[in-house]
Amino acid sequence: MLALEVDSLTKIYDSSKVLDSVSFKVNEGEIFGLLGPNGAGKTTLMEILSGIRDPTSGAVKIFDMNAIKGNRKEINKLIGFNPQETMLYDDLTGMENLEFIASLYHMDRSTFKSRLEDLMSLIDVKNLLKKRVGKLSGGQKRRISIIASIIHSPKLLILDEPTVGLDPDARRDFWKVIWKLRDRGSTIILSTHYMEEADELCDRVAIMESGRIVAIGKPEDLKRKYGDKSKIFIYTKLKLLDDADLTLRGIGYKTTRMADSLVIEEDSPSELVPYLISEMSRKGVQPERIEIRNPTLEDVFLNLTGKPLVEVI
Ligand SMILES: Nc1ncnc2c1ncn2[C@@H]1O[C@H](COP(=O)(O)OP(=O)(O)OP(=O)(O)O)[C@@H](O)[C@H]1O
Ligand SMILES: [Mg+2]
Repeated sequence: MLALEVDSLTKIYDSSKVLDSVSFKVNEGEIFGLLGPNGAGKTTLMEILSGIRDPTSGAVKIFDMNAIKGNRKEINKLIGFNPQETMLYDDLTGMENLEFIASLYHMDRSTFKSRLEDLMSLIDVKNLLKKRVGKLSGGQKRRISIIASIIHSPKLLILDEPTVGLDPDARRDFWKVIWKLRDRGSTIILSTHYMEEADELCDRVAIMESGRIVAIGKPEDLKRKYGDKSKIFIYTKLKLLDDADLTLRGIGYKTTRMADSLVIEEDSPSELVPYLISEMSRKGVQPERIEIRNPTLEDVFLNLTGKPLVEVI
């Protein structure tokens, strides 16, 4: 079943097309990423999906229900939205914020307590709930706001840049939470401008730029199709570089020089490296260092748009 179907969605602000005929589908149980730089239209798209904004034209279906003019009340019970700017009350404690959110869903006390306990086993907020939110760090607020967006066990979770403000360890912990939620049957749509996050966390990714989806697919497929080729960089002592070059050419590899290294383009570099090392050793050339560079979603973005995917805070 499809969790989401977006068809020709367009949003115009002051005669500029912030979303330009965006179409895509998300299957139930998928982790789907929107990857794009500042201003690509990610938040606008997510706000339309969440029912906060109306599009200028186009259609959205959530679990096969019309999510634009249809019954949002029904749909809102099925979705959880975590906005880019966390929407918690600074003057309330974490617990009070969560209680308030639960009251909006008319959740009774015992359901709230058992759901919170369950979510606390996934997301560590133990020492945070008694503190006023205004006194917490960005990453701590983010954890509470994620709980706030899933306290009602939504089937579709929409997270706008959920890992901004988290340090790399906390970001990886968060990925584990997302995987667990998916294993429990949720569908997750999240935006990010971190390419590793899109690559490692998401089953499929839509790469957005200037209001358009420029490519969509599994990270592996996108990298294979639009990324640079994998490269092996071989570094030796400078005086041995010519010998290394001769050896590699002698066994049929095309090398190019880049600064003080030899570069070979190769589809399966990790399989080839041991062979190259043994061939070079046979000729008495010991490499100092070997580096494998695989294609990234950054290359994909650059190759498709001509612009770098600048990582921004
Ligand atoms: N209320 C608004 N009125 C006019 N223009 C807007 C409005 N909201 C967003 N925009 C414009 O729409 C474009 C897309 O903005 P959006 O916030 O959707 O991008 P984004 O991909 O979420 O960027 P970021 O990575 O910075 O969060 C931007 O050029 C922005 O200036
Ligand atoms: Mg945004």
